Amino acid sequence: MAQNEPEELLELSSNTRSILEKHGLRPLWEVEDDFGNVIDDLQADIWKWDDIQTVIDSIEQDVPIADLPPGFQRRVAVPINAAFGNAISNTIYVGVQTVSPGETAPAHRHGANALRFTIDGHEDMKTVVAGEEFPMENNDLITTPQWEWHDHVNDSDETAAWLDVLDLPLILDSMNAKNVFENHELERQPVTKTQGYWDSQYGRARSAEESKHNSIPGPFDGIREATPPYRFRWSDVLKTLHQRADNDEPDPYDGYCLSYVNPATGQPPLFPTMSFRAQLLNNGPTDPHFHNATEVYFVIEGEGVTHVDGEALEWGQWDIFVVPPDGTHHHEPDDEALLLGMTDRPVFEAFNFYAEAEPST
Ligand SMILES: [Fe+2]
Ligand SMILES: [Fe+2]
Repeated sequence: MAQNEPEELLELSSNTRSILEKHGLRPLWEVEDDFGNVIDDLQADIWKWDDIQTVIDSIEQDVPIADLPPGFQRRVAVPINAAFGNAISNTIYVGVQTVSPGETAPAHRHGANALRFTIDGHEDMKTVVAGEEFPMENNDLITTPQWEWHDHVNDSDETAAWLDVLDLPLILDSMNAKNVFENHELERQPVTKTQGYWDSQYGRARSAEESKHNSIPGPFDGIREATPPYRFRWSDVLKTLHQRADNDEPDPYDGYCLSYVNPATGQPPLFPTMSFRAQLLNNGPTDPHFHNATEVYFVIEGEGVTHVDGEALEWGQWDIFVVPPDGTHHHEPDDEALLLGMTDRPVFEAFNFYAEAEPST
């Protein structure tokens, strides 16, 4: 027998094997291959908007929103990565939700961090968060913080669509924790604040009280400050992107790139678990790099291709694609493109574990 055949050297006697099994233990060399399999299996993938639209249309035809079970009364198509049963990645969940004219997605609240990014909106399409109606115009980003009531009501005469983005897979799968969830006793929560109230609380002049929103009520009472309810108007974000493009150098990997900051701190990340960027690509191909954080992208505008480990993801407006951990990637817009970049990087940074590099040539 050759000295260096580890499978021979590591084979256990049947007696030891039965003792290990009886006590629910396995030797490290057997289980270490399983470590991180979830991440290893994450695939670069793309979901084309035309396909998403077809799915949504079929669901709408088959299932009136009111017939869905309580707690799931929303029409959502969820991109599923080949490696998972329930989400696009093992940390970030993305769903495409539509609400038809006159429909309401009933009021509820939960422990997961969430936001809406409006795909096809209207000033009379409103998401109501913490007592305030937030109009959902195209490309607006609106937070729905942990344990705040939120409902969505379409008072316009057009079907509205948006991205729901939550940290559900991180909570449910990776941490094996629960997403505490509660339905409101009313279908629509009472509107108790004037429009612009939450925005006004996080401007340059703030309440003399320490914070209007300094802890999460309910089961999370006193744990920490949640990201506030907030609407990032696309018109403001786009203006800033163009100012940067007119005056500054782009990031080599992500083009002109803005972070959505937590309004309470003025700093990214927007949520402790997820960070969001508005990216303008107008300077040719970006440089390739790789990192251990996952990136999910939504194409706001434009066409192009993102290369991931030699695979070409060709994208157009409203497509969604995912770049897996450690996948070497770069973006190549046809001309000018706008992307929403979503990443679980804050989780890695919280543990001092984030790493990125350029591939060696
Ligand atoms: Fe929700
Ligand atoms: Fe990247």
